[in-house]
Amino acid sequence: MSDGSRMRRVLVRLGVAVLVVLVGLSGATAWVYTSAEVSTVGKVDFVRPLAIPPLAQSTVAADGAREFELDMRSGSTEFRPGQAIDTWGFNGNHLGPTLRARRGEQVRVRVRNALPEASTVHWHGMHVPAAMDGGPHQMVEPGAEWKPEWTVEQPAATLWYHPHPHGATETHVSRGLAGMFLLDDDASDALALPHTYGVDDLPVLVQDVRFRNGRFDFGHGAFRDAGFLGDEVLVNGTLAPYREVSDELVRLRLVNASPARIYNFGLSDGRDFALIGTDGGLLERPAQLKHVQLSPGERAEIVVRVKPGERVTLRSDRLDAGLDMFTNRFSGGDDRFDILELRAAATLRPAPPLPDHLVTPQTPKAADSVGERSFELEFGKINGKAMDMSRIDATVTRGTTETWIVHNGDGTPHNFHIHDTQFAVAEVNGNQPPESLRGPKDTVFVAPGSTVTLLVRFDGPADPNAPYMFHCHLLWHEDLGMMGQFVVVDPGQQPGTPHHSGH
Ligand code: C2O
Ligand code: CU
Ligand code: CU
Repeated sequence: MSDGSRMRRVLVRLGVAVLVVLVGLSGATAWVYTSAEVSTVGKVDFVRPLAIPPLAQSTVAADGAREFELDMRSGSTEFRPGQAIDTWGFNGNHLGPTLRARRGEQVRVRVRNALPEASTVHWHGMHVPAAMDGGPHQMVEPGAEWKPEWTVEQPAATLWYHPHPHGATETHVSRGLAGMFLLDDDASDALALPHTYGVDDLPVLVQDVRFRNGRFDFGHGAFRDAGFLGDEVLVNGTLAPYREVSDELVRLRLVNASPARIYNFGLSDGRDFALIGTDGGLLERPAQLKHVQLSPGERAEIVVRVKPGERVTLRSDRLDAGLDMFTNRFSGGDDRFDILELRAAATLRPAPPLPDHLVTPQTPKAADSVGERSFELEFGKINGKAMDMSRIDATVTRGTTETWIVHNGDGTPHNFHIHDTQFAVAEVNGNQPPESLRGPKDTVFVAPGSTVTLLVRFDGPADPNAPYMFHCHLLWHEDLGMMGQFVVVDPGQQPGTPHHSGH
């Protein structure tokens, strides 16, 4: 054999080997791609009655404050009978009670940490002094106690609470530390809306999970840049839940308490529902919609009309979130879930029609804006920087409104949450936002390649040393450092130095 033909054969063999590896790799990729899609549509046996978190007990202290107690503890929960899973909860084994307070009321919470790790409790969506916010600077060590207090000075809304320890929020929330915080006010009480908790007004706190070998599996999996994505969904901690309802109109307070999953909520038969509220409270008027998309941390209040004797399922459909095909698949955008079955009684209590007008918006106006700031979201960073607990990223003046322009130039889905405030979404990519973003918001999805323009008012109180957070609420991203800090100061005041408590 000549050297030339030997060389040719070597090259051919090499070529074949390379080809085999490539085909194998793309086969593996194709397999990973295909198996990344999850659908439970039509496959869920709704066998368990939906748990309704109890309303938290409270007492009125001598100074008039309404006092709640929240104990963070570890325990175990049987999501399926006979299979106990290690979980964390507030005042119980998993999740927490629903706190409820009225506008104008002074609230105090005695938080105790009986966990083996330090944690915090953050009041997501609440207008609170920064030192009471429960962010990463208000750590509560194991065995320690923390007693924040504030006065409720915001409209009726569906808020929630969860831990916020820097670098560990994803695991603390995923183990079960989350609960709802409902606010009431005279304006919402006066409206003909379903409002009996657990009857025609249902808490629906949604989290995706994965169980493996009798434990939670928090693994992220290949190409999961979004973070943890589960293959089953819990509502208020119940797997495969149904709820019997006896009213024509049922209000669902949807809270996306999941680490990374974006839901596209709708009803199984494609019927309309009325969106009546967003993160920070009621809309100006109900919006008839078929879908509402919620990224982690976002809330929506919807009213569903049911017919006697029927069953209809709350479902999450594929996303239309502006993600490319690959990112969409690996961010859960092709996934579908049957979430909660509503079973209507044979005879239903009639409900009055929904009011045409709900409340007058209190979110900031563009004309009030005194300046602009830009925020560039990229994987693990904001404006090129990872979170630093000792760095103040923005100093804002109490009582002013600013325009915050948030851009996602990264290929990954992100959202943007600002503590303490309820902002207006002024524009999405230069256009008027869709109806589902026209109410008060504290968290907003920012699709890859898109820009959202927010009008944010900072009401304080001023505290140059205690920062509030802004961050991506995909919890793994937040843990990686997609978070920054701002302080609210009085006019002319300089930012100070963040101090930590609890260390
Ligand atoms: Cu829901 Cu900074 O948090
Ligand atoms: Cu928050
Ligand atoms: Cu993110």
